Amino acid sequence: MKITPIAVSPDQILYEQVADRLQGLIADGTLEPGDRLPSIRKLREQLSVSTSTVLEAYRLLEDRGLIVPRPQSGYYVKQTALDRHQEPAETAPPQEASPVDISLAFQVMAKIRETDTVQLGAAIPALEYLPLTKLNRLMGKILRENPHLAHAYGSALGCLSLRSELAKRMLDAGCSVPPDRIIITNGAMEAIYLALQAITRPGDTIAIESPTYFGILEAMKMLQLKALALPTHPREGISLPHLEEALQKKQVRACLIITNFNNPIGSCMDDAKKKRLVELLNEYETPLIEDDVYGDIYFTGTRPKAIKAFDTENRVIYCSSVSKILSPGLRIGWCAGGRYGDRIVQIKSIINQSTAVPPQLAVAEFFANGGCDRHLRQLRHAYQTQMNRMLQAIGDYFPPDTRVTHPNGGHVLWLEMPAGFDSLQLYKEALAQKISIAPGVMFSVSGTYYQNCFRLNTAISWSPVVDRAMQTLGELAKKQL
Ligand SMILES: Cc1ncc(COP(=O)(O)O)c(C=O)c1O
Repeated sequence: MKITPIAVSPDQILYEQVADRLQGLIADGTLEPGDRLPSIRKLREQLSVSTSTVLEAYRLLEDRGLIVPRPQSGYYVKQTALDRHQEPAETAPPQEASPVDISLAFQVMAKIRETDTVQLGAAIPALEYLPLTKLNRLMGKILRENPHLAHAYGSALGCLSLRSELAKRMLDAGCSVPPDRIIITNGAMEAIYLALQAITRPGDTIAIESPTYFGILEAMKMLQLKALALPTHPREGISLPHLEEALQKKQVRACLIITNFNNPIGSCMDDAKKKRLVELLNEYETPLIEDDVYGDIYFTGTRPKAIKAFDTENRVIYCSSVSKILSPGLRIGWCAGGRYGDRIVQIKSIINQSTAVPPQLAVAEFFANGGCDRHLRQLRHAYQTQMNRMLQAIGDYFPPDTRVTHPNGGHVLWLEMPAGFDSLQLYKEALAQKISIAPGVMFSVSGTYYQNCFRLNTAISWSPVVDRAMQTLGELAKKQL
């Protein structure tokens, strides 16, 4: 087979580009399970790259769980379990705006956090993946060198050094936002909450993807907002025709989207769709809150752009945090509020004056001099490896008619079982065996649909205990069918 040369991108390491090209051929079925990959010599000649580039690319694909070496014979596409299960189709939530009712999420999350449980429920990165030693050292240094700093009020906007670093990092997401338009918050969740408060009144309707992160639903409930849950595809994201119809009917005050590698469904819109979405929202003068906490966790290619990158009228409020990549506990998030920024800072200063200063400085220093890009490369690799292991285990242990997402980034999987399956029952039975999962109803507006679905966190450290937990979950699932 002949593999066409790659258009070399300066933004990505060459062997990763070679690996991505081959992964694309595996994903689209050109290379099927059991097929032999081109020999190292052949690929080297076809792509005009060095032997070590091909070897590194094959090593990366092996780490990703996609190919296996056979002694004296070469590399083969794995008889992989990853493809054993189909992906869920586009969702079809009830299509009318309704108040949010998800009281269950609090109960479930309290259990999910218990420490003697295999934590497949909460979307929290295992701490061993995070640069804790470096961050702790930086915190110590900052406090030693500035003994009064932790005790003084900071500014509502946040520390300039962090805002400057974030402005640079946002360029990777295609956004050009000056540091003085960035507001530091206590995690992404505060940014989203402030954004909702700045642009809505009780009773307003917000268009959202469905399923969506229950933290967003909880915030909407607190603010007495209604949610219009729109059909969402596990790869392509929210349905624009449905959104357009709602905008035409003047039903929607704002839209809220988890742009890249949505939690829980994993979707990531392409650039053309992001651009079209902005055009649509501009046409109807409707603001968008964008939650991009997973944008840096992409498995192939380069960082996906933010919707904010296409924002020509400053209507997009970009929200993110370091919770999934550096530390959930430092509570460092931020938002770029566009035309709503001043109102957001005003509310922030009323609610809690400012975000604590030492964690801001530690994160700023880590971004500036802490080897952040190398850390992110390792993190992406680790997350992808764990996700592939989880997919493998689902293939090995779960019923054949299980459907599961195959996201290209992030660290959660969404599983859809046949109609009639009760994931709350699975949740209770699994918890009795010290395994947590997040039942699908937590991600629905009324807390009643997606009963046959559940979410698994994949940012865990794989071990025989986790493998056994997956086997147990598979057995419990089979018992119900
Ligand atoms: C999509 C999404 N947004 C926001 C958050 C919360 O982020 P933070 O901890 O920075 O408030 C999470 C956490 O799981 C999430 O998955």
